[in-house]
Amino acid sequence: MIAGKKDFLKLLDLERDDILEILELADRLKGGEKCNALAGKSVGLIFEKSSTRTRVSFEVGVHQLGGYPLFLASSHSQLGRGEPIEDTARVLSRYLDGIMIRTFGHDRVENLAKYASVPVINGLTDLAHPCQVLADLQTVREHKGKLEGLKMAYIGDGNNMANSLIVGGLKVGMEVACASPAGYEPDASVRAYAEGTGRFTLTADVLEAARDADVLFTDVWASMGQEEEAEERRRVFEGVYQINDKVMAAAAKGAMVQHCLPAHRGEEITADVFEAHAREIFDEAENRLHAQKAVMVKLMGE
Ligand code: CP
Ligand code: NVA
Repeated sequence: MIAGKKDFLKLLDLERDDILEILELADRLKGGEKCNALAGKSVGLIFEKSSTRTRVSFEVGVHQLGGYPLFLASSHSQLGRGEPIEDTARVLSRYLDGIMIRTFGHDRVENLAKYASVPVINGLTDLAHPCQVLADLQTVREHKGKLEGLKMAYIGDGNNMANSLIVGGLKVGMEVACASPAGYEPDASVRAYAEGTGRFTLTADVLEAARDADVLFTDVWASMGQEEEAEERRRVFEGVYQINDKVMAAAAKGAMVQHCLPAHRGEEITADVFEAHAREIFDEAENRLHAQKAVMVKLMGE
């Protein structure tokens, strides 16, 4: 992962083989392999944004690995009253064996990792959602039997999900197409990496991105922290940046649909497409548990 202390902050930091190793362990854990790698260990879960899946899958995952999870809502800790993340990092490192954090700016996670002496996991920042994308890749491989050579299309805002999907998909050998409106493209660091692979297309044209795709992804038009932009974003995205029957018709026969959830039916995805692909989407949600357990075993359990 990263030299020295092992952190999991963004997929750009990982090699292809690191990702595949995590996915293989995730598959084994899902298959029932017993693992007590966190026995006697405690993991802090800091949330500065809302969550259903990330909170529950991390709490249950730590418990299943024999450890003790601590849910730390920033609104109920001194972080929410302005205690610096650098001090929080050093204090928590004296008590805990690992920290997961969901927050706003990616610099906050980087600072936490810099000052913590225990592994830090990114549970979503404005820049990246790497745990989600490990689960996504696990799900695609489960359904399609492989990753390399498949085409992934992402339709929508160039947000944390877009950034992590593009990097994750390209690292494991997929072709990746992203359709985002002008002004809402993925992060420059992601584009720089992606363009160097020769397997990446960025377009504003949804049907071009979806053409012959084996798996289609989308995400909300306005992410957590962008509530004030919601109306403006609706004007830009509405009627165009949506997975619907027309988009599915452009994709490959038997194409999968994935959504990190929560989904806004009638916005980024139609209710019909969502329900037709609900099994894949809820497999994806389940795989958060297995993929994150694998990450914790690699970072804190070995
Ligand atoms: N997909 C995801 O991260 O969900 P939560 O916001 O519920 O954690
Ligand atoms: N892009 C979304 C993902 C939620 C899991 C957000 O950041 O709110």
